[in-house]
Amino acid sequence: MIRIETAENAGFCFGVRRAVEIAEKAAEIHGKVFTLGELIHNEAAVEDLHKKGVCAVNSVDEAAGEVLIIRSHGVPKSEKEKANRLCKAVFDATCPYVAKIHGIVGGLSENGSVIVLGDENHPEVVGIMGNSSPKAFAAKSFEEVEDLFNSGAIGENDEVSLVVQTTFDRERFLDISQRIREKYPRVQIYSTICNATAERQESARELAGRAALMVVVGGKSSSNTKRLAEICREYTKTVFVTNAAQMPEQIAKNLPADCVVGITAGASTPGYIIKEVHQIMNEEIKTTNENEEDFASLLEQDQSFTRLYTGKRVKATIVSVSKKEAVVEVGAKQTGYIVREELTNDPNAEVEDIVKPGDVIDAVVIKVDDNVGTVALSKKRVDAALGLEKLQAVKDANETIEGKVAQVVKGGVIVIYENTRVFIPGSHTGIPRGGKLEDLVGKTVKFKIIEVSNERGGRVVGSIRQANKEVRDAAKAKFWETIEVGQKFEGEVRSIENYGVFVDIGAVDGLVHTADLTWNRVGHPKDIVKVGDKITVIVKSFDPEKKRVSLSAKDPEDNPWTKFVSEYKKGDVIKATIVSITEFGAFAQIIPGVDGLIHISQISTERVANIASVLTVGQEVDVKIIEIDEERERVSLSIRALSEDAEPAEEATEE
Ligand code: F3S
Repeated sequence: MIRIETAENAGFCFGVRRAVEIAEKAAEIHGKVFTLGELIHNEAAVEDLHKKGVCAVNSVDEAAGEVLIIRSHGVPKSEKEKANRLCKAVFDATCPYVAKIHGIVGGLSENGSVIVLGDENHPEVVGIMGNSSPKAFAAKSFEEVEDLFNSGAIGENDEVSLVVQTTFDRERFLDISQRIREKYPRVQIYSTICNATAERQESARELAGRAALMVVVGGKSSSNTKRLAEICREYTKTVFVTNAAQMPEQIAKNLPADCVVGITAGASTPGYIIKEVHQIMNEEIKTTNENEEDFASLLEQDQSFTRLYTGKRVKATIVSVSKKEAVVEVGAKQTGYIVREELTNDPNAEVEDIVKPGDVIDAVVIKVDDNVGTVALSKKRVDAALGLEKLQAVKDANETIEGKVAQVVKGGVIVIYENTRVFIPGSHTGIPRGGKLEDLVGKTVKFKIIEVSNERGGRVVGSIRQANKEVRDAAKAKFWETIEVGQKFEGEVRSIENYGVFVDIGAVDGLVHTADLTWNRVGHPKDIVKVGDKITVIVKSFDPEKKRVSLSAKDPEDNPWTKFVSEYKKGDVIKATIVSITEFGAFAQIIPGVDGLIHISQISTERVANIASVLTVGQEVDVKIIEIDEERERVSLSIRALSEDAEPAEEATEE
């Protein structure tokens, strides 16, 4: 028996159907009404509306003095006010989902800003912007949102809200909103996407998965109808017609005796066209059924075989495998086979890696061909259904899982997890913008599940970045729990500043002040290290609240002060080199890392007005150690003391 089924969400969406009904009702009352722009994009339907007295105009002025219908896209507030002033009557058929967005943007504080994610030329976006209390900006991508902040169009202290065009691609919206949340957490995001399109596609997919033939009805130029046809073709034989007159003759011929014929239609296809197609199909099937009745009843009588139809789940035993497919036994008249692409989602996997003769697997029938006596089955579609359930559980438990990156696709990469394809958007791969996603192919990666939906036959979105972040956060938490003063790390120089260098010690970057880089005198940190250098550092102090760590690259064992106090004592006369001159004295290096101060009063027995006229940097001088302050690690030197030491001896000689 051949049955006809119409997809659950075929044809007009709720908003368009409501607008058409309002227009038709208004035309019934007023005789003739005008819509601001075409109500729907379907020639036959527009012609039909015209006959009922519903005509389109391009501006409010053209409908002055007449009855005007505002279509489902909505209009700017000023346009509606103008219509109320100029027209005899105005019927507002703005879709309630769009009106809800008008309510959101109209209720916001005038001091803020609104970003409308969508196409700035689309009438719906124009209408939303024209109903916004704060200043409104349209943007299609994350980059365009960034431009609004960077250019100053959105003020630093503005309260910022974001709404999205109802028909915006959900996947893109998820990606963009995630990135906005991370970079501009102050943006209040309203998810205002309408599900009508996704639901229409989903019910077409579900029906096509069970049908031996799909009939898609709609305008040839309608992009949403073309997309429906594409989806159906992925699953079964599909014909695309604009109306009933285009239905091919003998369309039901060659269909299996027991199968489903599905009908779906685009968003602008009126119900009566769908009905006409249904009727024609019904008549075709009746004729075919009559002709084939005898053959069908013969088949019915044969109970020894499993009767197969598209969508039936079966146990399949693998009989043999080749490079391209696995031949299976399913207890039916037909020979079963599963091509490699229906065994796995991994484009790199071989058939023999997946199944071997004797294996019993779950599979679903995707096509029965009674003419040649074969039945095509799919393993991956059964796996995908089970995979969705499993991945939903993984998401709910916020687990991290592992999978192999199979390929790069538009906007990201595909990871295979137990035969289920998981899409990782480019911004969630952890590869920096401009980096090569190809580098990930073949690698096993850890990731989180951030979305599981039944749309498009099951869709799972993952994030490597979130898994990486979790690892980093855990490492940071452990770091702050275990850090101690004196702890040693092997770090890598991340950046160099005038006051010191930042060193990556794993979980955080710590600061080594210039003075803590080495025991010797340092001009600029770049004279000592460069970015990427590996250095050993010791924790000097840390602040878990401010997440700051102060480090030192000086090895305590090389402390020159220890060496100095072990070799020198007060009263020693030594040689030292002048290293700097100040107003109050000169510093002289005793050993590398230990300088002593020759105070201006200790330079000579004479009064010294200008130190530079007596001493020069680099000059080697004899000095006496006159004081060692061990606590403050300071040394006082004197040249004058040498002269004073010498004077009494000379006097004694003269006596
Ligand atoms: Fe249709 Fe309204 Fe959604 S017009 S697509 S139901 S927003």
